[in-house]
Amino acid sequence: MCGIVGYIGTKAATSVLLKGLKCLEYRGYDSSGIALLNDSLFVCKKKGKIIELEKELNGLSKDLSTYTVGIAHTRWATHGEPSDLNAHPHVSSSGKIAVVHNGIIENFQILREKLALKGFKITTQTDSEIIAHLIEYYVDKYNDFLTGVFVALEKLEGTYGIVVVSRDYPDRIIAARNGSPLILGVGEGEIIIASDASAIVEYTRKVIYIDDREVVDIQRDSYQTYDLLQKQVEKPVEDIDWDIETIGKKGYDHFMLKEIFEQVESVKNTCRGRLLTETGTSRLDGLNLKPEDFSEIKRIILIACGTSWHSALIGEYLIEEYARIPVDVEYASEFRYKNPILTKSDLVIVISQSGETADTLAALREAKQKGVKVLGVTNIVGSTIARESDGGVYLHAGPEIGVASTKAFSSQVMVMIMIAIHFARRKDMSLESGQVLIEKIEKLPQLIQSMLDTAGDIKNIAEIYKNASNFLYLGRGVQFPVALEGALKLKEISYIHAEGYPAAEMKHGPIALIDENLPVVFIALKDSIYGKIVSNMQEVRARGGKIIAIATEGDNEISNYADHVIFVPDVDRMLSPILTVVPLQLLSYYIAVMRGCNVDQPRNLAKSVTVE
Ligand code: AGP
Ligand code: GLU
Repeated sequence: MCGIVGYIGTKAATSVLLKGLKCLEYRGYDSSGIALLNDSLFVCKKKGKIIELEKELNGLSKDLSTYTVGIAHTRWATHGEPSDLNAHPHVSSSGKIAVVHNGIIENFQILREKLALKGFKITTQTDSEIIAHLIEYYVDKYNDFLTGVFVALEKLEGTYGIVVVSRDYPDRIIAARNGSPLILGVGEGEIIIASDASAIVEYTRKVIYIDDREVVDIQRDSYQTYDLLQKQVEKPVEDIDWDIETIGKKGYDHFMLKEIFEQVESVKNTCRGRLLTETGTSRLDGLNLKPEDFSEIKRIILIACGTSWHSALIGEYLIEEYARIPVDVEYASEFRYKNPILTKSDLVIVISQSGETADTLAALREAKQKGVKVLGVTNIVGSTIARESDGGVYLHAGPEIGVASTKAFSSQVMVMIMIAIHFARRKDMSLESGQVLIEKIEKLPQLIQSMLDTAGDIKNIAEIYKNASNFLYLGRGVQFPVALEGALKLKEISYIHAEGYPAAEMKHGPIALIDENLPVVFIALKDSIYGKIVSNMQEVRARGGKIIAIATEGDNEISNYADHVIFVPDVDRMLSPILTVVPLQLLSYYIAVMRGCNVDQPRNLAKSVTVE
């Protein structure tokens, strides 16, 4: 969840680490800290954003420029409040060992008691502090840094990405991973280790993805990777193919707005080279499915969390409609603990922007454990989910920095469309129908532009409703998950309570909420159930509710029922979610900005939820 950076080289470590932390701040942001090493260990930790740490460091009389080794952390607290003290790095009692940790140590309580009995002084409320003491204990016992770390790791239960330094070994950094991402950037005479490649790209494009249950022993110009049995492991050096520019704000006020506006391009990138007009299907070689596999698959289970779960719901409508394969959609957090009933004819697809979400990863492992093939739909190349799946589809949406997912959602929906047509063409869909559908899909990215062009109108609507305390989002059929997503976006970044419902369900409860203070967003496209949704709108109107309608271009009737209308181009109803979601993303964005909220880093949230 948090961000980790470690550096060993010839540059001033402080500036490399602070820059790295800033790139990672979106991952966690309640406090941060740094440990610098030469023959002594210097530690500085601060509650709040990284700027607070930077201010503290700048205010010191001490010259930090001579330190060329260090580790740093930006925290998203799981154990103990965000405070200077609980911030990482944590230092062992004698001051020899410093460690940064991402994840949760589940047996920390028992280890705490044991360490206290041995005389270690526990000073913080975190689960992480004990790692420093434990390592010190075993490094002293075996008189060797690496052996000490290995033995300490044996005692830990839970998840970790850790980076450790020792005052007695000033030219080394040791890192280990079990459940939290770590990437090693290999430069000329310098090595940088981080939980995310964005902290590395400025220095080198050569990276090594550390896997679970691996340890890496790092020096300035060498490194060695091991498994937990202390056996050497040779890892491939891979290239990162995107640059630092792509993760800047490019002139937009916020990453979220930039990412909303990037959707024409990002969705184009998702389908680049994958839409086959001639054969009326999609090319998804990464699925690693043989022709005979398709006839064996009798059910598809889509598993995800949050926004990705909403794209899974859209996937359900698409796959059932086009491929006529029954689909179940599961919350990853529920699936992993319910002892799911799976058979050989099931196919599991997990969806995760980050590819690191702990619940989704656990669901993937549970399904694999039960012998079922698992595919992964993720945005992050080399992420744990990508690597542990039997196959899958990358979103290619580019890095998404805003905590509220926008462009990853539209790309996930595009992947769902492509998976649906891929399966459909292996089953009953004719060549001609496939070709017609591919033609329609090809037009979608450009049509997103017309939705972005409504930004001015949406801003005006935001101005009117920015002070509302509640919002209701309603849609039917494939628009129901879009309503859920609209509501989630609003509550995440503006802190306004919002609910999404299938429109017809309104009369079974939420109708009680309707009065003149409740804005209701209807996704009311001209399709076979248009008449039904218009009836729902009238029910809201009759009770004084205010209506914002997302309607089909050319629908002249809709303004009779709605206070505000945003028009969407007339597209196939099954493909329309990729368009109807855009005004909802913009509405939440403008309302949140007008309410003075921190749009890119909303309170209590983190971009990648690597804890349960
Ligand atoms: C999206 O706006 C949210 N921040 C959140 O619901 C997110 O979609 C969820 O945590 C799943 O993340 P993932 O796609 O990286 O697995
Ligand atoms: N569990 C640790 C803590 O609460 C690490 C949290 C994180 O990943 O930032 O300090």
